[in-house]
Amino acid sequence: MFARSAVRALAAPSSRLFSSSAARSYKVAVLGAGGGIGQPLSLLLKSDPLVTSLSLYDIRGAPGVAADVSHVDTASEVKGYAADQLDKALEGVKVVVIPAGVPRKPGMSRDDLFNTNASIVRDLASAIARVAPAALILVISNPVNSTVPIVAGTLEKAGVFDPAHLFGVTTLDVVRSARFLSGIVGAQPSETPVTVVGGHSGPTIVPLLSQTSQGKNITGEEYSALVHRIQFGGDEVVKAKDGAGSATLSMAYAGAKFTNALLRGLSGEKGVITPTFVKSPLFADKGIDFFASNVELGTNGVEKIHPIGPISAEEEKLLEACLPELKKNIEKGKAFVA
Ligand SMILES: NC(=O)c1ccc[n+]([C@@H]2O[C@H](COP(=O)([O-])OP(=O)(O)OC[C@H]3O[C@@H](n4cnc5c(N)ncnc54)[C@H](O)[C@@H]3O)[C@@H](O)[C@H]2O)c1
Repeated sequence: MFARSAVRALAAPSSRLFSSSAARSYKVAVLGAGGGIGQPLSLLLKSDPLVTSLSLYDIRGAPGVAADVSHVDTASEVKGYAADQLDKALEGVKVVVIPAGVPRKPGMSRDDLFNTNASIVRDLASAIARVAPAALILVISNPVNSTVPIVAGTLEKAGVFDPAHLFGVTTLDVVRSARFLSGIVGAQPSETPVTVVGGHSGPTIVPLLSQTSQGKNITGEEYSALVHRIQFGGDEVVKAKDGAGSATLSMAYAGAKFTNALLRGLSGEKGVITPTFVKSPLFADKGIDFFASNVELGTNGVEKIHPIGPISAEEEKLLEACLPELKKNIEKGKAFVA
């Protein structure tokens, strides 16, 4: 069924998706594990050599997903928890990944999800504050620009907020950028990494193509089309799925990739740097205190927030469009937990 190379990649201890520095191993929880993202994400985390134990929680279906995933022949233990077992699911957990919540349907923006997902994320964050206050939290649930401030505000109220421990997962924008750019220049995606800064929705997604050797010469209509595709790539999936949801498989891949990067940083590997949406000083003077930029991941989570670096005139314009929208999204999240 698989090409031999694909089987080798899945079996290899350090495939392109997962590399392992092998020093440590970790208990990871997935909240929303029964969903379109949660299921493949749980499977991919089961294949990550740095994950020793997987705790799968959802308001429906997690024990079934756990029974299924637990048969995969990797060393980690897997346990599933039913709707009334959230606290149990969080016991002893080092990292919590949150893909719980409703996805978009055609015609919806990520902000349209706010009313439903804001309270889901707040309630999960309260449970984390109570049971696993030192856990590192990776937020996938949209709108990320608002759900991350909601988690921060909830933890702050509980007196346990550590900015080094909270991440909005923007990796799918990074994955899409590398993939789309590779198609244009005819290179491997591994040769066309792109730093994506800002936030995670439409105009707040700012790819820094000028900083890449393969992307800096793309100009004119080709540039505008590529930027648009990176910013609105999610819509392609929502439209093609025709009412059945948004990106799940590519998001699971991106979520597993970011989790692996975080675990490598926690294990002491040096130089693990990737874009992610964190509490950031970069635009704090403009009242924007969460921002995605390259972040070095270390033994305590956020090790160093990198500045965005030199950018082109076009990127200045993209940033100008990003900042007011991002500010609005962040304020909406903060107001919800005020
Ligand atoms: N960050 C990103 O790049 C990105 C990309 C794609 C989708 N998303 C977002 O991820 C979220 C999930 O998408 P999906 O396609 O998996 O949706 P889905 O509807 O398939 O799955 C969501 C799961 O969350 C569960 N859930 C709901 N409330 C819960 C609660 N209180 N506790 C635990 N679980 C709960 C549901 O039972 C369901 O199994 C959406 O908000 C979507 O917009 C983010």
